[in-house]
Amino acid sequence: MENVLIGKDAILNLRMGITFPDDQAPEVQPEPVENGQSLTDQVIAATGPKAHPRLAQIMPSLVRHLHEFAREVNLTVPEWMAAVDMLNECGQISNDRRNETQLLCDILGLESLVDEITSNLLASSNAGTPSAVLGPFYRHNAPLLPNGSSIVKNLTPKTPWYSQAIADSAYITGRVLSTDGKPIHGAIVDIWLAAPNGLYEQQDDSQTDMNLRGRFETDQDGRFAFYALRPTSYPIPFDGPAGRFLTLLDRDPNRPGHIHFIVSAPQHRALTTQIFDDRDKYLTEDAVFAVKDELVVKFLPRKGDPKARWYLEYDFVLGREN
Ligand code: BEZ
Ligand code: FE
Repeated sequence: MENVLIGKDAILNLRMGITFPDDQAPEVQPEPVENGQSLTDQVIAATGPKAHPRLAQIMPSLVRHLHEFAREVNLTVPEWMAAVDMLNECGQISNDRRNETQLLCDILGLESLVDEITSNLLASSNAGTPSAVLGPFYRHNAPLLPNGSSIVKNLTPKTPWYSQAIADSAYITGRVLSTDGKPIHGAIVDIWLAAPNGLYEQQDDSQTDMNLRGRFETDQDGRFAFYALRPTSYPIPFDGPAGRFLTLLDRDPNRPGHIHFIVSAPQHRALTTQIFDDRDKYLTEDAVFAVKDELVVKFLPRKGDPKARWYLEYDFVLGREN
């Protein structure tokens, strides 16, 4: 492969300090005949007989792909060092409110891919609602609320996004079903979404604790119901290395408007998923590649309800626990 080197500015952006002038960038070298193949074999062979069995199973593949990637693109030391520094910075910026390494995986589609692989492995059939990534903004212990209540907290005309919230006010209901079509009584539907300013409550001091979060228990008919908002698109956090990486890739940081759900019930596999509003202009370019056709929903106008201008009915189908 021809070596298209990342330019000086790009490298500077990725990592302060390591740069090489473009005019001194390494030339493409004629490929050595062996090009590190025996090194790859040596690394694979270094795993000992007492290695953790799953690691012993997967590491040869990881090493082979990683080395093959480096050979294929003629990876240089400054480029590799820039990546090491980016990973280090991801760790340094992460805390209990922010997981930058997960975010990096997200923009590379890795969380979506692993989510797909995991749910295919666990599913006995594909009759259940598809899963989608959890993302970094879930909080445990959202308030358990009676069906029909609102998860929009402290909305007043002084709220900066008040008129948007009124215009997007929505009544959302649906059932939780087993794959045989039977309603599940006592399922827990755990919900969270971003406010119309594109921020989750833990990112935004102006929002009340646990705003736009709630858990609801399904009734005898498997039904849940709550008032919320039509979701708004928002950019994933891009003030750190993952955001700089997106810029270097000339990519948009936005996610289409979505509502997150974790739906759980005894004897059933818990479902982590998201639904996406079909009006959203970012549906086909989700920064984290989580949109699936079955998860795109259509809100309908709601008449005669002072608390909601929109209505959505959506059923979740849970597979049985194996
Ligand atoms: C989210 O939907 O909350 C999300 C998912 C992946 C990365 C960033 C945000
Ligand atoms: Fe989200």
